[in-house]
Amino acid sequence: MKRQPRLSPRSAKSRRTVSIIGTGSYVPEKILTNEDLSRIVNTSDEWITSRTGIKQRRIAAKDEHTSDMAAKAAVKAMEQAKISPAEIDLILVATATPDMLFPATACFVQKKIGAHKAACLDISAACAGFLFAVEIAQQFITSHTHDTVLVIGADKLTAITNWTDRNTCVLFGDGAGAAILRHRGGSHGVLSTHIGSDGQFTDILFMPGGGSRCPITHENVDLHLQTIHMTGKEVYKQAVSAMLSAAKKALDQAGLSIEDIACVIPHQANVRIIEAIADRLKIPLDKFYVNVDKYGNTSAAAVAIALDEANRTGRIKPGDFVLMVVFGGGLTWASTVIEW
Ligand SMILES: CC(C)(COP(=O)(O)OP(=O)(O)OC[C@H]1O[C@@H](n2cnc3c(N)ncnc32)[C@H](O)[C@@H]1OP(=O)(O)O)[C@@H](O)C(=O)NCCC(=O)NCCS
Repeated sequence: MKRQPRLSPRSAKSRRTVSIIGTGSYVPEKILTNEDLSRIVNTSDEWITSRTGIKQRRIAAKDEHTSDMAAKAAVKAMEQAKISPAEIDLILVATATPDMLFPATACFVQKKIGAHKAACLDISAACAGFLFAVEIAQQFITSHTHDTVLVIGADKLTAITNWTDRNTCVLFGDGAGAAILRHRGGSHGVLSTHIGSDGQFTDILFMPGGGSRCPITHENVDLHLQTIHMTGKEVYKQAVSAMLSAAKKALDQAGLSIEDIACVIPHQANVRIIEAIADRLKIPLDKFYVNVDKYGNTSAAAVAIALDEANRTGRIKPGDFVLMVVFGGGLTWASTVIEW
């Protein structure tokens, strides 16, 4: 029998629940396979598949920007939610690869979709950004400040990838996912959210160049400072423990156990990380929605694309309890339990 969940404290107080009423996603056309990569760096399909589960990733065109992918995902989410751009009060774009440092990528998206009424801002929480944005959207809606929020996770990681570094370039891809959040009667919607960070680990997953600390110069570009730097083993270790603890916190807050969850949608970085979490939560891998084999790690977009696919393919159905859990540079982590 379906367990009665605990309503989020904010929804209980404000008598306003927050649901995802539409999702959308977009990935670029161009596919880069492991085979293709083995002609760029010294790697192999066997190494990449056995260490990560990734078989291919999508690569955005030179003139296809993060905001282009974000806008395409947003249009699909609006279509599914049956809302017009004029109804959107707030646009939150989670990204580590904004079109420019400013203005916000959300402003470019606003222009592209014609959401003229919306306030726009970007969320910087790396791969965990989409669920940070869901948490922020929930706050605006439960406080009755806004009614309709467009949340997007979008990244063009291949623009900040060092294509001579086999330790990193095999892992990443491009894409965008979007969700429309709004109160919907008759559903508990977002039951719990948990976000967290640990600034002790700013040096294990980062891009040193391009900001004010290390501006773009010829010398810095020669040193590849405008690309992703990562200590893979340490990131792996931290990812497993942070996602496990975040998952437990969101479940506890919702008054649910992992057995009540119909589908776990995790950050799509590495299938081994997902397997380790399944193992420690003592649940079968088929409870997880996994698409990292098709797209690689698309950062803030990853969980959003997976959510859209799970939604559109019927993997998650109305009334299901869904757990999303993510992890990213910062370090950052976040989790959400939602009644679909
Ligand atoms: C990156 C990662 C896949 C590496 O896997 P791993 O099991 O730690 O790697 P291993 O120790 O088995 O292998 C390392 C060796 O493979 C080599 N190697 C690295 N990349 C390679 C590649 N693409 N092809 C072939 N060999 C590669 C290394 O040079 C190293 O060789 P050495 O031992 O001779 O120095 C893994 O650490 C990981 O997934 N980390 C988390 C990354 C992540 O998720 N980041 C984003 C978080 S949001």
